[in-house]
Amino acid sequence: MATVLVTGGAGYIGSHACKALAQAGYTPVTFDNLSTGWQDAVRFGPFEQGDLLDRACIDEVLARHRPDAIMHFAAFSQVGESMQNPGKYWRNNVWGSQNLIEAAVDAGCMDFVFSSTCATYGDQDNVVLDENSEQHPMNSYGASKRAIEDILKDFGAAYGLNHVIFRYFNVAGADPDAEVGEFHHPETHLIPLMLDAIDGKRDALTIFGTDYDTPDGTCIRDYVHVCDLVDAHVLGLKWLEGGKGSKVFNLGTGSGFSVREVVNHSAAVTNQKVPIVEGDRRPGDCTRLVSGSTRAETELGWQPKRSDLPTMIADAWRWHRLGHYEK
Ligand code: UFG
Repeated sequence: MATVLVTGGAGYIGSHACKALAQAGYTPVTFDNLSTGWQDAVRFGPFEQGDLLDRACIDEVLARHRPDAIMHFAAFSQVGESMQNPGKYWRNNVWGSQNLIEAAVDAGCMDFVFSSTCATYGDQDNVVLDENSEQHPMNSYGASKRAIEDILKDFGAAYGLNHVIFRYFNVAGADPDAEVGEFHHPETHLIPLMLDAIDGKRDALTIFGTDYDTPDGTCIRDYVHVCDLVDAHVLGLKWLEGGKGSKVFNLGTGSGFSVREVVNHSAAVTNQKVPIVEGDRRPGDCTRLVSGSTRAETELGWQPKRSDLPTMIADAWRWHRLGHYEK
């Protein structure tokens, strides 16, 4: 049974990836410093607590588990915070990733799946965002991820490190069995904040900006279900195992929804009113981020199954009511 080191395996996407890997017959070893993750979310394989800034610790874990591949999710990922504290993003995301990539090459672990983001594209009005689009990140989070993509390309060329880079659009939803789900502290993402507002855990959802150049004035995003997203990662791993070489894939559905549309869908799915307040724009937010690529479908054979908005919101709502973690 092949072993996969999953950095950030105690986090939202990483924990779903561990479940998908275990279901596909792999042993997922979680490597996480628990700065934003939850030990309670590590349910599908061994856990190693450690920090990517500690190279010796990475080396030890690689020597102990001898993984066949690495899936690298661990990162700080808040667009707004990255604008206020860019050093945190450059140090943790870029330096930590460089440590991991160097350690992987030194250990001979040459299949690497990386969690990148559509935030590397930035705002490009009227441009179809596909994998060949120019990358002009508008925030330090996106810039840090682009830098890691560059490191991977260089290490691919120099040492033959095979890598699949996934540029995610907006990840949403939760495991339909509610074994794992989205649980950030503090929460910054639209759908969980809206569910909090619906059940009274917060007063209202603030809509960040109503004067964007979009039909209803609010930002447009392409939402993809976390379970579909991690299914693509398993396909990416098989792609690497098949010796198909390094490749970049967008992961989005190609359909954009405004913040107000997400609010309306949430009201319909939960059958409750969403209390909203209209606020200022959030620094670093792009107007519109929608994938214009079908490469993951055509080349990886990826078929999103739960990425329609009502299903994503319903799964998030189920987790919101049933699931939680203890540290
Ligand atoms: N939004 C609000 N109010 C809130 C929270 C969010 O109006 O309280 C809006 C944002 O302005 C944005 C949209 O809802 O227009 C989605 O915001 P999220 O914070 O849920 O997601 P982001 O688009 O900022 O970021 C997410 C991931 C990033 C990824 C990015 C790509 O967190 O890792 O998607 O768009 F890079």
